[in-house]
Amino acid sequence: MTSDRRTFAIISHPDAGKTTLTEKLLLTGGAIHLAGEVKARGQARRARSDWMKIEQQRGISVTSSVMTFERDGITFNLLDTPGHEDFSEDTYRTLTAVDSAIMVIDAAKGIEPQTRKLFEVCRLRSVPIITFVNKVDREGRPVFELLDEIADMLALDVSPQMYPVGMGGEFQGILDFASGEVVVPEGPSKEFKGRRVADFDLPEDIAENVELAQIGYPEFDLDAYRNGDLTPVYFGSALKNFGVVELIEAIAKYAPPPRPQPAGEEQIAPDHDEVTGFIFKVQANMDPNHRDRIAFMRQVSGTFKRGMKLTPSGLGKPVAIHSPILFFAQDREVADTAEPGDIIGIPNHGTLRVGDTLSEKNQVRFTGLPNFAPEILRRVALVDPTKTKQLRKALDDLSEEGVIQVFYPEIGGQWIIGVVGQLQLDVLISRLSAEYKVEAKLEASPFATARWIKGDEKAMAEFEKFNLSNLAKDRDGDLVFMAKSPWDVNYQEEKNPDLTFSATKER
Ligand code: G4P
Repeated sequence: MTSDRRTFAIISHPDAGKTTLTEKLLLTGGAIHLAGEVKARGQARRARSDWMKIEQQRGISVTSSVMTFERDGITFNLLDTPGHEDFSEDTYRTLTAVDSAIMVIDAAKGIEPQTRKLFEVCRLRSVPIITFVNKVDREGRPVFELLDEIADMLALDVSPQMYPVGMGGEFQGILDFASGEVVVPEGPSKEFKGRRVADFDLPEDIAENVELAQIGYPEFDLDAYRNGDLTPVYFGSALKNFGVVELIEAIAKYAPPPRPQPAGEEQIAPDHDEVTGFIFKVQANMDPNHRDRIAFMRQVSGTFKRGMKLTPSGLGKPVAIHSPILFFAQDREVADTAEPGDIIGIPNHGTLRVGDTLSEKNQVRFTGLPNFAPEILRRVALVDPTKTKQLRKALDDLSEEGVIQVFYPEIGGQWIIGVVGQLQLDVLISRLSAEYKVEAKLEASPFATARWIKGDEKAMAEFEKFNLSNLAKDRDGDLVFMAKSPWDVNYQEEKNPDLTFSATKER
C-alpha cells in the first residue's frame, strides 16, 4: 500500500547545484508549476537580506518546504533542507523526516564541509544515500579521485553506476553500467537531450578506466545501501538536465519506501493500525499579526483523511484536522487523504510543537528527534527593560519552533540563547522586532557550549550544589551544564563519572 512513496531530501554544500537539480527533478516529474519558484528562491538566497525578506513573507518557503512530483506511478516527496552557509536545527530535523537522501557533489570540488556535516546527520539514523556527482559538463577532478574521496572521507563503500566519458570540453556522454549504453547529448547545447547509444565506441583510456571502476569498487548491494553502508554513485549535469532521469529512476528503484520510525523500544511500521506521525518543523504563517503557524507532520502510519481527529502528545486532547495542507496532489484542493511518507501541513495557533507525536489512540511516542548542543551562546539584553514578559513569551515560542534554544540560568536573570549557526541569530533579532515588538540585543556570554546532564538524584544534587553558577534550565525544565570551553566539558565528565553529559537531547 505504501510502496509508491519516496520521501527524500537533497544534501549538499552551497553552490553544488541543489537548487538546479531540484528544479530539474520537478520538471522531469509532474510538478512543472513549481520550478520557477524554486529558482527564484535560489537566487534570493544569495543575498542574505533578500533571503530574510523572503522568509518573512513565509508563503513561498512554506509551499516549497515540501515539493512533490510523480513519475511512473511513484510519488516523490522532496523535503527542502534550508541551504544557507550556516546551519540550523531545522536542517537536522528535516533529515529525521526523510527515508533517504541524495548527496550532490560538485565534480570539481568533491566532498565539502557542509556535505560532510549533513552526511553525519544522515549516518546517525542510517539514512541511505545516493550520490550525484554534478557539473560533469565542466572540468572536474579525476573520477577515481572523487570516488576515493567519498569512500575515505565518509567511511562509506562507493559503487559507481555510471562513468562519464570525458568531462568539460571533452565530455561525450555518460556510460550507464546497467544497460551498457552511453547516454549522449543531443540538440542545442543549452539543454542536452540524452540519447542512448548501445554500441558507443569508447576511447581506449576510458574503456580501461570503466573496467577498473567496475572491478575496483564494490558491486551495488541493496541491503548495504539501505543500511547506509554503501552509496551508489551517479554522474550528470543538473544545469544541462543530464543524468537526471537516471537519478529519478534510481530513487524509484532503490530508495526505500516509508521506513518504520522509532518510538521508544518499538518501531512503528507504515501498516500500524492507526494514523501516526510526528512534527519535524513548525513555521510561522504569512501574517505576522496573527501568529498562525503551520506544523509539518511526517506521516508514519495509517491512511489520513481530512477532518480526522488526532491527539498531539503535547496537548493530550484530540484535535480535528479540518484544513490540512496536503502537498502531494497536483491540485491541493481535491486531496483528501494522505499515506505514510507524505507530509501534512497543519495550521494551528502554537499548540503543535516540534517533536510532538500525533496519533489516533494517543499511545505512540516517536523518539529520536534531537536537540543539538548549541555552538554559539549569547545573552539577550532588552533595549526596553519593561518588556521582560514579552521577551520570555517570544523566546519560548521561538524555541518551540526550533529557531533557537533558550536557557534560563539558575542564578541571575540574564537569559541565554543558543544556536547552531550564526544565521539563526539574525533571524531571532528580526523576528523579535517584527512579530513581538521586542527590541533586543545580543551580548557575549561566558559560555562556549552546553550539555544536558543526566544521572541519579544523588549525583545530580551533588553536582548542582557545586556548579550552580554554570547551570541553567532549558525550555522543558531539564538541567543543562553551561561550559566555558570544550575542555570544561571533558573535565567535568572525568570528575563526575556517575553523570552523563550529552550533546544532544531527544525529545
Ligand atoms: P545550490 O542550490 O546548491 O547552492 O546551487 P545552485 O543550484 O544555485 O547552483 C550553483 C551554481 O552552479 C549556479 O551558477 C548554477 O547555475 C551552477 N550549476 C548547477 N548545476 C550545474 C551543472 O550541472 N553544470 C554547471 N556548469 N553549472 C551548474 P551561478 O552562476 O552561481 O548562478 P546562476 O546565475 O547561473 O543561476
